[in-house]
Amino acid sequence: MPGIVVVGLQWGDEGKGKASAYLAKGASLAVRFNGGANAGHTVTLGSMSLSLHMLPAATVSTRAAAIGPGVYLDLEEMLKDVRRLEEAVGKIEVIVSPRAHLVTPLQLALDAKIEEVRGGASIGTTRRGIGPTALHKYGRLGLRLCDVLEGGEAEALAEIWRRLWGGVVSVKSEEALKSVKRLAEEVRWMVGDVPSAIMSRLSAGETVIFEGAQGTMLDIDHGTYPYVTSSHTTSAAAAIGSGVGLKAIDSVVGIAKAYTTRVGAGPFPTEIAGPIADAIRRRGGEYGATTGRPRRIGWLDIPQLRYACMLNSVDQIFLTRLDTLATQERVEICVKYEGVKEPFPDTVEALKRVKPVYLEMEGWPEIGEAEREKLRREGYGALHRAARRYVEKIEEELGSVIKYIGIGPRIEDVIMK
Ligand code: GDP
Ligand code: IMO
Ligand code: MG
Repeated sequence: MPGIVVVGLQWGDEGKGKASAYLAKGASLAVRFNGGANAGHTVTLGSMSLSLHMLPAATVSTRAAAIGPGVYLDLEEMLKDVRRLEEAVGKIEVIVSPRAHLVTPLQLALDAKIEEVRGGASIGTTRRGIGPTALHKYGRLGLRLCDVLEGGEAEALAEIWRRLWGGVVSVKSEEALKSVKRLAEEVRWMVGDVPSAIMSRLSAGETVIFEGAQGTMLDIDHGTYPYVTSSHTTSAAAAIGSGVGLKAIDSVVGIAKAYTTRVGAGPFPTEIAGPIADAIRRRGGEYGATTGRPRRIGWLDIPQLRYACMLNSVDQIFLTRLDTLATQERVEICVKYEGVKEPFPDTVEALKRVKPVYLEMEGWPEIGEAEREKLRREGYGALHRAARRYVEKIEEELGSVIKYIGIGPRIEDVIMK
């Protein structure tokens, strides 16, 4: 009964959407268990590119999606995703947990307000209301989908919100509630029990893909706090956020880009600026799928990845974008932080002081359409020797297996090692 968890090992945007869609071939359900519409998971089907924010990108393979109670639910974004997916692949099944906390216009306004008040110390959030929704949830002031659909406490809660936030932001609590009530009616048909939907499939021997959002370094407890998101992004969150036990999970696939990117503020030890970063950003179209912001670029960071592999109990690594890193004469890998004891520095100040020690390696030539076809046919052995050396060096440094290698944006642009 394979339950496969897909998690990002860096600061998000590792290619989880594409990797999940690939790994979900033959699976019967794709599950989102964390984050919210701050995620942007892109899959490329032929010539069409689809960026999903609320539903798992692996739905293109499974045609069935679940949203667990651990997700911050933006109903408007979810309805958009359903429409987009159905246009692309036809009818899909969607099961949404009634326990998921709702993002309303109030939380969206508060996200912008908090960023404004932080000023120069702003996080650079995606403005999708994530922090404020978490604040309400963990402060026991959150509004869940079931609270809206089944009535009860929603009005009383709106009154508490009004007393707390009236005058702080211009959005009125009762208006915020009204807008989600209307949308909740539209999704009523999707409401179902997510844990049962997962367990019944696993018991029948089917495969379920748990598609993580964000990346390990954005985890609220293990990431570069406070420059993180407001949820758990490591593999353990798949169990909690979807409502199954740890034994429902059989393997963890960690997704890592062949270099590193980060969008938003916060420490980034291997960040590079200048022509190489610009070239990688241009080649890879490295702009946020949710906000369109240019992504910051850096070399691969082994101490960071080693920490992430440990936190996630990674079984296998899916290394994406080897083709994007191609055409550089030399590539660098940070193999350690000078004088820093592993596993990983705890504070932003310590991370800012980190001096990465780099190993320089030979680059490899363009991986174009003809090479992709050859690689798909002939496999890993057909990869340029410098690229193989790069892959094997990462494995050696991490002590983990790289099982899949991304050589292009389309779902089938993968070689298995
Ligand atoms: P996610 O948030 O982790 O799902 O990643 P995003 O979708 O935000 O960003 C990853 C981008 O890289 C997407 O546009 C993918 O289509 C693309 N991508 C994923 N794997 C590869 C790869 O191996 N090669 C290339 N060229 N693009 C890839
Ligand atoms: P996917 O799933 C990259 C970043 C934001 C910001 C910080 C906090 O596509 O990999 P938030 O809106 O969550 O309060 O922002 O986290 N961030 C992401 N960066 N990929 C993501 O998701 C992200 N989700 C949040 O840029 O720095
Ligand atoms: Mg993304």
